[in-house]
This record gives sequence, structure tokens and C-alpha cells, in this order.
Amino acid sequence: MKGVLLAGGTGSRLRPITHTGPKQLIPIANKPVIEYAIDDFKEAGITDIGVILGTQGREAVREYLGDGSRFGVDITYIVQGKPLGLAHAVGCARDFVDGDDFVVYLGDNILNESIADFVRGFEQGEYAAGVALQHVPNPEQFGVATLDEDGNVVRIDEKPDDPEGDLVVIGIYLFSAQVFDAIQRVEPSARGEYEITDAFQILIDEGGPVYSHRVDGWWKDTGRPEDILEANRLILDDIESTIDGTVESGAEVVGKIDLHETATVEDGAVVRGPVSIAEDVVVGDGAYVGPYTSIGPATTIRETHIENSVVIGESTIEAHETFVDSLLGRRTRLESKDGYLPDGRRLVVGENSRLRL
Ligand code: DAU
Repeated sequence: MKGVLLAGGTGSRLRPITHTGPKQLIPIANKPVIEYAIDDFKEAGITDIGVILGTQGREAVREYLGDGSRFGVDITYIVQGKPLGLAHAVGCARDFVDGDDFVVYLGDNILNESIADFVRGFEQGEYAAGVALQHVPNPEQFGVATLDEDGNVVRIDEKPDDPEGDLVVIGIYLFSAQVFDAIQRVEPSARGEYEITDAFQILIDEGGPVYSHRVDGWWKDTGRPEDILEANRLILDDIESTIDGTVESGAEVVGKIDLHETATVEDGAVVRGPVSIAEDVVVGDGAYVGPYTSIGPATTIRETHIENSVVIGESTIEAHETFVDSLLGRRTRLESKDGYLPDGRRLVVGENSRLRL
């Protein structure tokens, strides 16, 4: 069994963050989304991985993953170029797959349960392909699956306007090498892409069968900023507290914190977990880093409150403001105007007053 990891695409729904880098490298709890997929492959015993590269951020992905040895896997790069669709991307892996069965993992998907059971279930039958499924409240944004009474897939509709059910295909697929002939026969869809769902339909129409596996734990497609923040929340919920960095006396640190050994929480700062703080971060005087926040490397925060947010890194945040639900790209500077004076009511209040503001 081989692995094919898709790292192409444009990341258009994550602009401006993706103007300067691929979405698959956006960190969730200070680890790029794509690395969670590598971990999942490895856990399922799949170490021979083909990474499909697009045009955008190609070198950044290569630079981060290297030959895979850092992660205990063996990586082969395959260039797709323009994102012509998922079927086209998978089709580019034909030589790499070389007749084996393989798992396709969309590099912007993240899930908390192992893919090992899915792979095992597929291997126990004679299937042409397999999909992992989950019930969602917004099926119109995904491939929607219809199953027969044996649990085999009989139809997949790509982002239908009027979905028949709420069981959707998540971004992890299993294929036998049979799929490559089906892919060659896929025509561009109405949105101009070679859809992987059409390749599935060809396999189904020609007898399949297409295996289905229900995913019970959480799963996130991190296509939009709010998905990044939610994936960050889900991952931070499960972290262990590891306070390896410096916490100065006078700093307040409560809850689960993953504090890198080179990070510092200075006197006068407050950190309330779950929070992840990466290397060379300084949480300085007057800073409050609240629950479900990840602060990326080499960032300094002072006199600012931030909560439920992702700071990608190399940023300076000294703004006398409160930020919530924010996704801040690399090398962001947030600062107050010169001669800052805090907004606020100026009061002269007499004794025994009670004010509710
Ligand atoms: O997340 C699950 C959904 O993924 C499924 O329910 C849909 O059936 C499936 O079509 C797909 O929908 P998306 O709209 O989320 O796909 P997206 O275009 O975002 O591409 C998914 C990943 O594949 C992303 O990491 C970029 C990469 N990609 C995409 C295209 C179109 C490529 O590497 N090459 C491509 O040509």
C-alpha cells in the first residue's frame, strides 16, 4: 500500500494567507496541516508516499518535507502543475503507484482518528476503491454519498445544490490501480475540473464495488479561515501540558499549555490554556493569551489580548487591543498609533460609588 498526498490547489478561500504560501503548510497548534497527514500514513504503516505539488508554494512544501526521513517516511515528489482537479492530480501518481493499492490524502484535511481501520477494511475485501464518510450539517459543500444496504457506495454527487443526504466523502480515498483507467475517461465538470467523484462513478458503474468506512471522530477540511480556527481548537483540546519554556515569577499560567523550551512568559503576562506557544516566542508585560490560541515561532506579544486565534509566526503584536477569532499570517505587525493613549472613560468618582458599565 502506498500513499499519495495532495499538496497542490490554489487555496483561494484562504487568501491573503495563501498569496505567499501553500495552505497545506498553515500550522494547526504549531504543526503544518500536511504533517498530520504524514503522521496518519505512518501510523497506518504506509511510508512510501508520493506528494503531488501544484504551482503555488511548491518549493516551500519540498523544503518542509524534504525526503521524508525527518518524519520516518520516504517521499517522492510528483508535479501536477495547474490544479485541473482531483482526478487529474491522482492521475499524475500513476507511475509512482506502479500497480499497487494506494491511499489518497487531501493535504488540507485533518482528522483525529487513525486511518488504519479504513485501510484494513478495504484490504479485507476485493474493492475497486474506498471512501471515508461522515455526517455533516452542510453536505452541499462536499461530495455526497449514497450507499446500498451492504454499505457499498452507489453514487457520489459533487457539491450538489440539493443534497439527498448528509453523508459526505471526506478527503481520504482508497484505490486499486484500476482507478487510473477510469481517470483517463473523466471529462471536465461544469466548473471545469476533472472531478475525482466522476472517477468513482465510473468505477461504480462498471461494477465496483466501492467500500465505505464511517469516521466517528472529528474531521476538518481546513479550506477556510474559520476551519483553521476550529481545527486548532480541536487539536488544542487534546494537547498535554508541557511547560518546557521560562515562566517568570509574576506571570500567570493556567490550564494546558504547550510552551516551547525557548519561549518565555514574562512577568505581567497571562496565559490561559489550552494554548500552544512555539520557539522563541515572548509573551510580555500586559499580554493575555487566552484559550484555543496558537502562537507561532519568533513572535512577541505585549499589551495585547488575544484569544481563539492562530498567529502563524515571526510577528510583533503590541497593539493595546483585544483580538479574537483571528488568523494572522507570518510577519504580521500589529501596533498602536504613535503617542497611544488608551481609549476609555475618564472618571472622577466619589466614595461608595457603584458603576455598572
Ligand atoms: O474535503 C473533502 C472534499 O474534498 C470532498 O468532499 C469533495 O468531494 C472533494 O472534491 C474535495 O473538495 P474540495 O473543494 O475541498 O477540494 P479542493 O479543491 O479544496 O482540493 C482538496 C485538496 O487537493 C487541496 O489540498 C488542494 C489539492 N488539490 C486540489 C486540486 C483541485 C490538488 O493537489 N490538485 C488539484 O488539482
